[in-house]
Amino acid sequence: MRLRLGVLISGRGSNLQALIDAASDPTYPAEVALVISNKPDAAGLDRARAVGIATLVLKPKDFADKAAHEAAMIAALENAGVGLVCLAGYMRLLSPVFVQAWHNRLINIHPSLLPAFPGLDTHAKAIESGVRFHGCTVHFVRVEMDTGPIIVQAAVPVSDDDTPDTLADRVLIQEHRAYPLAVRLIAEQRVTVGGNRVSVRGGTMPNTVIAPIP
Ligand code: GRF
Repeated sequence: MRLRLGVLISGRGSNLQALIDAASDPTYPAEVALVISNKPDAAGLDRARAVGIATLVLKPKDFADKAAHEAAMIAALENAGVGLVCLAGYMRLLSPVFVQAWHNRLINIHPSLLPAFPGLDTHAKAIESGVRFHGCTVHFVRVEMDTGPIIVQAAVPVSDDDTPDTLADRVLIQEHRAYPLAVRLIAEQRVTVGGNRVSVRGGTMPNTVIAPIP
């Protein structure tokens, strides 16, 4: 049976789309079972509905507190038989209770080469800092934001005339490769976490990608 993914979104959902597209190949070892959004107008919800994937909108305001909101998310994920939760542009901090409940079964994609540039506005920060390489990171989630064992990174060059938008576009292309790759490695049970490090069994698939400017 394919690994069942629960994808948490707040917006555009292009990384969700990358996972949906990967899973449209029946040999891909995972499938999107449920999409949960905290925003009713998240465009990603339409991407899921368009291919008949179950969606759920859980607005924090409709719950007594954060614990109740997250309890509803956990119940929905468990009912859907989810084995791996993928944060894909989910713009709310998860509590330690949620993070512990899904320990090593909860991953995130972040638009920088962590541990550089945690938080928001990563592309502007990269340009400002003068780094020559930027990129994205798929990592297991830990309580502290944008930390946790790294599964896949993809690096892109920063060019002298980049703006945050042009750099974001270049990174996003790699996000859409890196996220399905990380999910595949987990679904194929090739990923082991030891402390803050991930090791990947089987050398046929690189766990790091350096992408040239197209
Ligand atoms: C991506 O840049 C992702 O790395 C970050 O939020 C953005 C979400 O984009 N966490 P999308 O909704 O997947 O298009």
